[in-house]
Amino acid sequence: MNIDGKPWRTIWLEEGERPGLDAVGVIDQTLLPHRFTTRTLHTCDEAAEAIRTMVVRGAPLIGVTGAYGLMLALQADPSDGALAAAFEQLNATRPTAINLRWALERVRDRVQPLPPEQRAEAARAEAGAIADEDVAMCEAIGEHGLGLLRQLAAARPPERQGESLNVLTHCNAGWIATVDWGTALAPIYKAHRAGLKVHVWVDETRPRNQGASLTAWELGCEGVPHTVIVDNAGGHLMQHGQVDAVIVGTDRTTRRGDVCNKIGTYLKALAARDNGVPFYVALPASTIDWSIDDGVAEIPIEARSAAEVTHIQGRGADGTIASVQLSPDGSAGFNPAFDVTPARLVTALITERGVAPASEDGLRGLYGVTA
Ligand code: MRU
Repeated sequence: MNIDGKPWRTIWLEEGERPGLDAVGVIDQTLLPHRFTTRTLHTCDEAAEAIRTMVVRGAPLIGVTGAYGLMLALQADPSDGALAAAFEQLNATRPTAINLRWALERVRDRVQPLPPEQRAEAARAEAGAIADEDVAMCEAIGEHGLGLLRQLAAARPPERQGESLNVLTHCNAGWIATVDWGTALAPIYKAHRAGLKVHVWVDETRPRNQGASLTAWELGCEGVPHTVIVDNAGGHLMQHGQVDAVIVGTDRTTRRGDVCNKIGTYLKALAARDNGVPFYVALPASTIDWSIDDGVAEIPIEARSAAEVTHIQGRGADGTIASVQLSPDGSAGFNPAFDVTPARLVTALITERGVAPASEDGLRGLYGVTA
């Protein structure tokens, strides 16, 4: 997608001075929307740190970064021991999104049977394939989601036909959470480019505010009309007919269609159900964990620093980016980063293979028996 009219991906290979010794470029998401900077990752340690500190974030993107992290590790040491250690190091960075483990296993399984001297090059090719496939999957999600948006627009009463379709989203499941296009935002970009009038309600998404900072930024870069709202406004807007659909992403989807996404997603699903608003979840196959059923019981929920709750980061009047304290000295904070929305609250899943009910039958209908 575009930044200042120039197309970007979120992650790319930086060819090394010597053949086979590459680095990896990423957009630093910790300073957006106030500063656009890129970083170069040279080592597995740097890749792990970038994922842990959320320089890169979003389930598909941390998977691709992990895959390239293994490549960086193998460039330094292609031994079995180094491969296993790098796998563990990268896999431990963030526990909830299944894409990370999925991508690490894919690269490990590709390179492990090879002689050590061939492993870095094979990891490079596999990580590149994962990145390219992510772009293709997200674009296909966009096309299938566009079909749904067209149906919703067509179903509106005659007096509302000229109005924008109002879509609410939570967190950032846009192109900067993936390699390109995004998951939840891909249908929005497709609709906007196709001339379907669409407006996005952007949940701020406390505590890290990925909605207010990242989703608003990338929608603005693409010229998509949007409005930032506080997380608590969604239910009120739904009660007043101002939301035509909710579309969110997911960090892990269980076999039966439970979805785990940024904290607060569950409350939006409850409000949507109470108000008859369709609640869609957009995901690529890499987000499905076929090994588990019950998301509430089985998905590990990342607990992040309490400082993200008690403090907030923003740009001051003088342009500097600063963190300020919100709560009193000594008050404890608790920061579960994700929650699970049970399949029964999900109207449908939007995948690269099409739209399906959030159920085991629905997923197997698309993917066959993959478990
Ligand atoms: O903690 P983050 O910012 O990595 O969380 C991201 C999300 O929750 C996204 O909605 C999710 O990864 C779906 S992605 C395209």
